[in-house]
Amino acid sequence: HMPILEQCYNLMDFEAVARRVMKKTAWAYYSSGADDEITMRENHSAYHKIWFRPRVLVDVEKVDFSTTMLGTKVDIPFYVTATALGKLGNPEGEVILTRGARKHNVIQMIPTLASCSFDEIVDAAEDGQVQWLQLYVNKNRDITKKIVQHAEERGCKGLFITVDAPQLGRREKDMRSKFSDTGSNVQNTGGDNVDRSQGAARAISSFIDPSLSWKDIPWFLSITKMPILLKGVQRVEDVLRAIECGLQGVVLSNHGGRQLDFARSGIEVLAEVMPVLRERGWENRIEMYVDGGVRRATDIIKALCLGAKGVGIGRPFLFAMSAYGLPGVDRAMQLLKDEMEMNMRLIGCSRVDQLNPTLVDTSGLSLH
Ligand code: FNR
Repeated sequence: HMPILEQCYNLMDFEAVARRVMKKTAWAYYSSGADDEITMRENHSAYHKIWFRPRVLVDVEKVDFSTTMLGTKVDIPFYVTATALGKLGNPEGEVILTRGARKHNVIQMIPTLASCSFDEIVDAAEDGQVQWLQLYVNKNRDITKKIVQHAEERGCKGLFITVDAPQLGRREKDMRSKFSDTGSNVQNTGGDNVDRSQGAARAISSFIDPSLSWKDIPWFLSITKMPILLKGVQRVEDVLRAIECGLQGVVLSNHGGRQLDFARSGIEVLAEVMPVLRERGWENRIEMYVDGGVRRATDIIKALCLGAKGVGIGRPFLFAMSAYGLPGVDRAMQLLKDEMEMNMRLIGCSRVDQLNPTLVDTSGLSLH
């Protein structure tokens, strides 16, 4: 029998339920990581190497953990990151995440490879609700330009270009489960030939342009006024280059461990990048985000202490949506808010602008 929703006490619980109730192919696509899944595991264990140095005797009767991301006020410093093929987990697809994000006043990043159409996802948002667009860059730049400009016209407030996927990683669980039915019509691929023998991810991704390079950045800046950020940056040199190119942010990410195995965790890279930015006085020139393995409010707090503006969360909301629909997503977000309030108190901070590097001990990470 399936546990009732009220028996899910943390984000991991949704995963355990989803594993039991989801179709095998869908579970394989959502849960898998690349190759030996070392990076996917490291995304979690890296957070376990960071410890707190809490302050005591601070008035924490009132705690406010709201913040801003790219100028948008949000209730809590996470956003729903882009994950493809929402209808694999739930027949309604990504619009469930839109409604959950609305209820909790957080931002949803819309994936290029959503199961619902882009317009359906924007239409599902309420007035004033902010969404961002995740972009896979098509070999056919006309298609990409149309997608970007349409997103801007429809009110998207940020463009996140995924830069860690010139070729899709080998997620062997996904490849083994013969992909036949996405439960949806994936759009935006430009009428690509679909090879269904290599798992869901590879079937839908061959339109992505592996020749994308830094030389293309000025073109993106010329076709849109949306803030542009790179999603999937993994080293300090590339963060500096993004700043020099005039970009507004980066997401330190390894794609949830689904691309390069043995990529380091985003949180560890963050701990390495921020001191370099501070040394140059560049820490306010760019907004830093991090994703991968965030499951607890303590993870969010650690990322903010180390200099992130916010974190992206992927699989937990997919699993909550697959197991319980909107009530699941709602509860997952509420659990994070409850954890956030308590842990802000316990670390001795009443606002997120008080979170700083002295509150964490990162000596367990291997930094260079
Ligand atoms: C992703 N991710 C992703 N990223 C992206 O830029 N475009 C995409 O289409 C997808 N699709 C996708 C599908 C699924 C099923 C997963 C799990 C992930 C990566 C995603 O945005 C993010 O980087 C990770 O999911 C973060 O890690 P966690 O929170 O899932 O551990």
